Amino acid sequence: MNNEQNKKYLIETWGCQMNEEDSEKLSGMLKSQGYVRTEVKEEASIIIFNTCCVRENAELKVYGNLGALKSLKQKKPELIIAVCGCMMQQEGMAENIIKKYPFVDIIFGTHNAYKFPEYLNRVKQEGKSIIEIINKEEGIVEGIPIDRESSIKAFVTIMYGCNNFCTYCIVPYVRGRERSRGPEDIEKEIKELVSKGYKEITLLGQNVNSYGKGLDDNMNFARLLRRINNIEGLERIRFMTSHPKDLSQEVIDAIAECSKVCDHIHLPVQSGSSNILKKMNRQYDRNQYLQLVKKIKEAIPDVAITTDIIVGFPGETEEDFEETLSLVKEVEYDSAFTFIYSKRKGTPADDMIEQIDDKVKHERFNRLVEAINEISAKKNKRYAGRIVDVLVEGTSKNNTDKLMGRTTTGKLVNFKGDESSIGHISKVKITEAFSFSLNGEQL
Ligand code: 5AD
Ligand code: SF4
Repeated sequence: MNNEQNKKYLIETWGCQMNEEDSEKLSGMLKSQGYVRTEVKEEASIIIFNTCCVRENAELKVYGNLGALKSLKQKKPELIIAVCGCMMQQEGMAENIIKKYPFVDIIFGTHNAYKFPEYLNRVKQEGKSIIEIINKEEGIVEGIPIDRESSIKAFVTIMYGCNNFCTYCIVPYVRGRERSRGPEDIEKEIKELVSKGYKEITLLGQNVNSYGKGLDDNMNFARLLRRINNIEGLERIRFMTSHPKDLSQEVIDAIAECSKVCDHIHLPVQSGSSNILKKMNRQYDRNQYLQLVKKIKEAIPDVAITTDIIVGFPGETEEDFEETLSLVKEVEYDSAFTFIYSKRKGTPADDMIEQIDDKVKHERFNRLVEAINEISAKKNKRYAGRIVDVLVEGTSKNNTDKLMGRTTTGKLVNFKGDESSIGHISKVKITEAFSFSLNGEQL
């Protein structure tokens, strides 16, 4: 079969929701050209790797997967292999990839993904590898078709890039400076989604709380939430991620007052030690974070708070780590993403001299995970016997006899129920609570 007849593509995505959304756009562009998606590498005529570089592990996976494509390309020279995403935005990375894996056909970065169809045509016509990395962010390109994973909930990016330069983080270097989409474009996209039957949207940005900078004076995240809350037919609004330094009372009030905005805030703390927070350039200290949590809990009584935590940041002492453990217990997080600090080239923390021994990092990581799991289980236990509203998303992953969905607080619920409720909000009585999910019965 030649390439023109075989119009199947495979996209593998690593990393955060931003990357997921970029892949949905790549997929949307390919589908609009008549391609269909496959999950089987041997069937594909195009394979795209959308990469992440936030931690070293993510990069190692890409190398491993690329190496494994060599024999496939030898057997099938017409196969087009493209590599894109954050990892490619790092200095010298694209050249490094093409040197190590000369069979790669197209390499592009985070700022020019919308040009993928053009690169594809060029490579088909000219047969030469294309490397195009743009270092400066251009304006926001609207109107790219998006092929979404779900037909019930969707991600909607409201801003790109990050201006914060936390000292461990590579994101500002590979995603560029903050740029906000216009509220009209966001509203239009959500209205279109609602007209197609979508019930829940998650507003995405590296720091949604600073949404609106550079737009009209009157635009900010709180106002955007209120505007979207008015969209008829939309049931739920989520958002991520919130930087604690920019979460204003105005935003907290908007979350509390807007009926569609879910009772869940993802508020990455990163560390419970003011000393480490300073070295991380987080621009808040332990006390300010705890005060913020207090304000949130006062305004939204049943709120779920989740977080990101890094252990083993350079200079982290046992006392610093214990402050993280005590903060976790004080806040009582519903769940947390925990990470072992990973050195990233070009970030300030990479040059810090007091790097922590791997063994110590792992030992702290295990203690932290244990503490969080205990708290998550305790928090979930409070749901036993309660009646909750669940947006039903489909059948349960592990047990297809059951349905699954989430509460407004983001808890995963598996329950026996009627399939006709998929795509709707349903009352469910919680019968059992575990660390990571709840069981229930539809009422
Ligand atoms: N090492 C470990 N974790 C990191 N994160 C970002 N950069 C690093 C790094 N160099 C984590 C932070 C962030 C999440 C998305 O990834 O906790 O909030
Ligand atoms: Fe990275 Fe900090 Fe920006 Fe988040 S806020 S993307 S951790 S630099």
